[in-house]
Amino acid sequence: MNKHPHVAVVGATGAVGIEMIKTLEKRNFPVGTLTLLASARSVGKKLTFRGLAVTVTELTKDSFAGIDIALFSAGGGISKEFAPHAAKAGCVVVDNSSAFRMDDSVPLVVPEINAADVKQHHGIIANPNCTTAITLMALYPLHQAFGVKRIFASSYQAVSGTGAKAIAELERQVGQIIHEQPVTKEVYPHQIAFNVLPQVDSFLPTGYTKEEMKMENEGRKIMHHPGFRASVTCVRVPVYRSHSVAVSAEFEKPVTVAAARAVLQRAPGLDVVDDPENKRYPMPLFTSEKYNCEVGRLRVDCALDNGLCFWVCGDQLLKGAALNAVQIAEELVK
Ligand SMILES: NC(=O)c1ccc[n+]([C@@H]2O[C@H](COP(=O)([O-])OP(=O)(O)OC[C@H]3O[C@@H](n4cnc5c(N)ncnc54)[C@H](OP(=O)(O)O)[C@@H]3O)[C@@H](O)[C@H]2O)c1
Repeated sequence: MNKHPHVAVVGATGAVGIEMIKTLEKRNFPVGTLTLLASARSVGKKLTFRGLAVTVTELTKDSFAGIDIALFSAGGGISKEFAPHAAKAGCVVVDNSSAFRMDDSVPLVVPEINAADVKQHHGIIANPNCTTAITLMALYPLHQAFGVKRIFASSYQAVSGTGAKAIAELERQVGQIIHEQPVTKEVYPHQIAFNVLPQVDSFLPTGYTKEEMKMENEGRKIMHHPGFRASVTCVRVPVYRSHSVAVSAEFEKPVTVAAARAVLQRAPGLDVVDDPENKRYPMPLFTSEKYNCEVGRLRVDCALDNGLCFWVCGDQLLKGAALNAVQIAEELVK
């Protein structure tokens, strides 16, 4: 890999794309040249990188000649259509969508957990589901120490997880309610302002949603743990940014709060914020725009053998998307 690669951001104008550009700059990723790609709607728009305006161009099948790394965040359909062209042109794709995550020939990587899997790529590397990545930042170190068998979890997912249009929807609905106007819905099936929606993604015949099953399926692949089981309820909440997950985990070995805390304090990319007496615990307001995830509310689970409850928060636009993608790119240029 070129040590100063030509990098393309596909979906550069979106909620994740904007964060990718910022993260490349903030982490001093050795970008040689930056190409910004989006739909025809955004052609000519200018975005700033290292103090210079970069003009957005239209994504086409021919966009990838000479590009070394392409960070894709324009939705699964775009990834399915264009990532194979990019890979064929010799570019390594880091894909944020769910299009290739469960494909056996595509590594699914959280660098703090399975960075070595990056080496197995054949042109495409997948970034995991945001809720899964944030949960695993706390669960994986505990798994290494105590051996996780299964988890029961509920997520509290921010609207920016649905993209730029959903942020605008929450903002608009709050304004409409305050001004006693009729509430309009464009993104979610129900009002999201002052409400919670127990549906993220579409339903499967089992009654779980696709989002809920990603924790088990992607968790197994990332942790190299085929026996891992996860029963999850994913909930959309009227929070702008950062997902939170309440987890009850059952382990092979006995676990104490002190032993778990010691493990979590050593875990990369994770801060322990766990001082309930002083009302200190992770909250999405304070993990937003922060690279590290936070874990707290550690307690022995009263309903499981060898069980531990915890609460983990993380910025899903960063660890759940842009940061993780840039970390994968960093592995590529090492
Ligand atoms: N938001 C998150 O927290 C998050 C986390 C993990 C993964 N992801 C994944 O990342 C992807 C993007 O999510 P997002 O939240 O950033 O969505 P978003 O804010 O709606 O942005 C979508 C981006 O895709 C571009 N796009 C749409 N249609 C296109 C086309 N036909 N050709 C080229 N570009 C096109 C848009 O360009 P225009 O502006 O020109 O329309 C925009 O740049 C999705 O696959 C999502 O599942 C998102």
